[in-house]
Amino acid sequence: MTRILAVANQKGGVGKTTTVINLGASIAVHDKEVLVIDLDPQANATSGLGHDEAENFGIHNFISGEHSLKESTVKTEVEGLCLVRGARHLAGTEIELASQEEREFFLEQALSSSDLSGYDYVLIDCPPSLGLLTINALVAADGVILPVQSEYYALEGLSHLMETIRRIKAHWNKSLSVFGVVLTMYDKRLKLSREVEEEANEFLGKTLFRTRIPRNVRLSEAPSYGKPVILYDAFSRGAKSYMSLAREVMAR
Ligand SMILES: Nc1ncnc2c1ncn2[C@@H]1O[C@H](COP(=O)(O)OP(=O)(O)OP(=O)(O)O)[C@@H](O)[C@H]1O
Ligand SMILES: [Mg+2]
Repeated sequence: MTRILAVANQKGGVGKTTTVINLGASIAVHDKEVLVIDLDPQANATSGLGHDEAENFGIHNFISGEHSLKESTVKTEVEGLCLVRGARHLAGTEIELASQEEREFFLEQALSSSDLSGYDYVLIDCPPSLGLLTINALVAADGVILPVQSEYYALEGLSHLMETIRRIKAHWNKSLSVFGVVLTMYDKRLKLSREVEEEANEFLGKTLFRTRIPRNVRLSEAPSYGKPVILYDAFSRGAKSYMSLAREVMAR
């Protein structure tokens, strides 16, 4: 069965795209087939996986139903990791969607009419908002991974997001669940990181992944080479942490 996971947080810069790219690559090296869908008009997952944004045959033609999944998918440098490329004009698509009926269901419809049987995991990179694109991702997904930066107010934003997830579950997608929360840019030497961790533990219990993603410069350098960190510096703490997260995700 294919597991469809949206990686979402309305807060910007918390590590959504870094998680999509590196979790995707780390799952793929375990002999799994992974599809990354870049649903963010910033198209950072696309460039981080070594591709240019899509003029054509990318996410916008896929969700509009013009092009099939097969036509919309490209390979990446990682064996088993494929990508539906994002594009800046997806922001325009979001506006077009807004006036249409069933506007929450475009991605869900595109995916449910596609043959996903070749994929073990589909990871959807969401933009930093709770707008229509993120809602489309949450309606299409069966689980959400929430990256949370280890800083003040992180958990306040999280409760807002949890409320949105509850609403989407109630109205549009009964099978949606919070698959897990991952603490990113974690620095155990910082009191603040430890405090956020403690609070997250208390508030989230088992929903919190045990893996912490450390602040690691290799993780921030790798996208400028268009590579996941395992191809850039496999021995870095960043690479090891995403491998550990991949094992947790596969076991869940
Ligand atoms: N664990 C980390 N250690 C060091 N740098 C990181 C880490 N995670 C992410 N970064 C860097 O922080 C910045 C934001 O990360 P990223 O793009 O993954 O966040 P995002 O949530 O996708 O942002 P946006 O909301 O804009 O889509 C990037 O420059 C990224 O390289
Ligand atoms: Mg991003």
